[in-house]
Amino acid sequence: VEHNAGLDAHFLDSAYEDAGAKIASDPQNEWQDADVILTVGPLGDQLPKSGGIVIGLLDPYRQTETAGKLASGGVTSIAMELIPRITRAQSMDALSSQANIAGYKAVLLAAHRLGRYFPLLMTAAGTIPPAKVVIMGAGVAGLQAIATAKRLGAVVEVSDIRPVVKEQVESLGGRFIDLPEAESGEGEGGYAKEMGEDFLRRQREILTQHVSAADVVITTAQIPGKPAPTLLTQDMVEAMRPGAVVVDLAAEQGGNCELTQIGQDVDHNGVLILGPVEIPRTMSHDASVVYARNVLELVQLLVKEGELVVDTEDEVVAGSLLTHEGKITHQPTAEKIQETVQ
Ligand code: NAI
Repeated sequence: VEHNAGLDAHFLDSAYEDAGAKIASDPQNEWQDADVILTVGPLGDQLPKSGGIVIGLLDPYRQTETAGKLASGGVTSIAMELIPRITRAQSMDALSSQANIAGYKAVLLAAHRLGRYFPLLMTAAGTIPPAKVVIMGAGVAGLQAIATAKRLGAVVEVSDIRPVVKEQVESLGGRFIDLPEAESGEGEGGYAKEMGEDFLRRQREILTQHVSAADVVITTAQIPGKPAPTLLTQDMVEAMRPGAVVVDLAAEQGGNCELTQIGQDVDHNGVLILGPVEIPRTMSHDASVVYARNVLELVQLLVKEGELVVDTEDEVVAGSLLTHEGKITHQPTAEKIQETVQ
């Protein structure tokens, strides 16, 4: 284990040693003998040995150059982001385990910055109405945001383009905002597909009425490998109440709100727009615990009778394989490299 690897999450070197691990003072050189390297993010310049296996959040849609190097170095790499969304792979799904944290924390960030209570309060000093929260995108993060906002007592309205989520939203106590004339936004693997500009314009018209009455808007809408769709325009923000708070969880993918600045707080006519990055870092203990479980489950899938086997017939392995036997096996990454070359 890399020296001080767990320090930011308050896991000390001694804890790894107690569990039987050896601390590597110079991991860059020591990892070259390793058969398997487990990492959080993409590796730097130093490559593992040919035939070695790297497993981690390798950022396949953006780190195409690194993927090229891994392939030419004969390294097998598995990107945790590419694990298929199937029932059998749920315990390995790092996007879900981390998105859960983001959804939960987004509500707390909003509550912290909002000058109002979330719950309905009847006090001697008067009655406080509950906060109104609008959540855009009811995937893993959005559903956790609904549950968290409801626990705090807010009234929650939700928009998504995949009709299947309506029931999930309602079971958590949220109100689903129907999008009339909505074509289905259901894409491959349970993800959303990219919608046309005409649809997004109609959707924004409907959402304007809801956000103008909201105290908090949390946006989580993403399309894998594509920039996030614009759901909250400047005009819509200008229709919101002063003091309202927007938390844009898609900030790192370009943002769902036109005014989002990545990693910054923006005050637009009294509406506060937060563009947080790497939210799981702010809950590093539990982010590490669940990520470690995801990685362990995947490693166990690769061990067959004490041997490491990269079984490309297995749907989970095949789906998450980024490079193998000298090739980039993830098609979108390979195509992106081709485009760059041309
Ligand atoms: P995501 O992070 O890619 O997107 C978040 C949400 O934004 C999605 O619900 C998407 O439909 C929505 N969205 C996209 N464009 C939108 C627009 N214009 N307006 C409103 N909403 C929009 O999705 P996430 O959270 O990674 O998961 C998506 C789905 O994948 C889950 O809800 C679930 O059905 C499925 N899933 C299945 C798993 C399994 O079976 N192992 C594990 C995790 C997710």
